Amino acid sequence: MPIPRIAFEQLPVDTRRAVADKTGAVHHAMTVSGGMNSAIASVLDTDSGPVFVKGIPAEHHQVDAQRREAAIAPHLPASCPRLYWHLDAAGWSLLGYEVIEGRHADYAPGSPDLPLVQAALAELQAVPAPADVDIKDAADRWKNYAPPGTLHYFAGGALLHTDFAPDNMLITGGRARLVDWAWPTRGAAWIDPGALALRLMDAGHSVEDALRFADRFPSWHNAEPRALAAFGMATAALWREISEQSLAEWKRRMAHHADLFADHLAEGQ
Ligand SMILES: Nc1ncnc2c1ncn2[C@@H]1O[C@H](COP(=O)(O)OP(=O)(O)OP(=O)(O)O)[C@@H](O)[C@H]1O
Ligand SMILES: [Mg+2]
Repeated sequence: MPIPRIAFEQLPVDTRRAVADKTGAVHHAMTVSGGMNSAIASVLDTDSGPVFVKGIPAEHHQVDAQRREAAIAPHLPASCPRLYWHLDAAGWSLLGYEVIEGRHADYAPGSPDLPLVQAALAELQAVPAPADVDIKDAADRWKNYAPPGTLHYFAGGALLHTDFAPDNMLITGGRARLVDWAWPTRGAAWIDPGALALRLMDAGHSVEDALRFADRFPSWHNAEPRALAAFGMATAALWREISEQSLAEWKRRMAHHADLFADHLAEGQ
């Protein structure tokens, strides 16, 4: 369920005071668009400069995702914004980030953003999952969706983002910057190019073109066809479940793309 987004000024006064203790006086707050899981997502103009603040009520069940995001922040590559602070105050859990003044990526075929997106993911592909941070294993995340006997394919040591919705990829100054680390995962590096390919399909790429894009990443290119087929089936099962739990049209669309994606990957085995 999406969390309704409120303005920064609607936060309890003690929460705003705790923010100002970190940033200096807050002069102006602008709510941003994109994303559905943060009750607060605002760019603040403060005494110490601009800060992006996202957060949710501390008792909300998704607060764990926010804690994971804070824990992984020090381990992220340069394409990701810097986390300045994490605070819990007066019933709210907030993260304060470096502001990225950008727009959401355009994944459409032929978009000039695509090489930038490729570069950002290529950078991430080289980053190992840190051993000392408690993040999910890919085999665990996909265990209810992958065909029997295939979970070992998902295991690996790469740090994965897994949620390449275009509003999690901000374009600015000739670079793509990857935000929203609610689902950091440890696993096989090819999983991220595969997750991105599905999002490209939703932006109008044929399944063949989306898979060609994934194939630009050595991790995907060198992966065992059976592993990719298992990922296709797991992805289709996951999006089927997501689309059955909600009437949102975009989820049904993603489920349809995922079926096509799975069929193509099954043929490649
Ligand atoms: N560092 C940043 N600087 C400026 N804007 C940002 C920054 N990080 C995120 N945003 C903007 O805020 C939106 C919401 O942030 P984010 O995606 O991190 O949280 P979310 O709402 O929980 O997302 P989701 O529902 O996708 O899980 C993004 O789609 C993006 O437009
Ligand atoms: Mg988001």
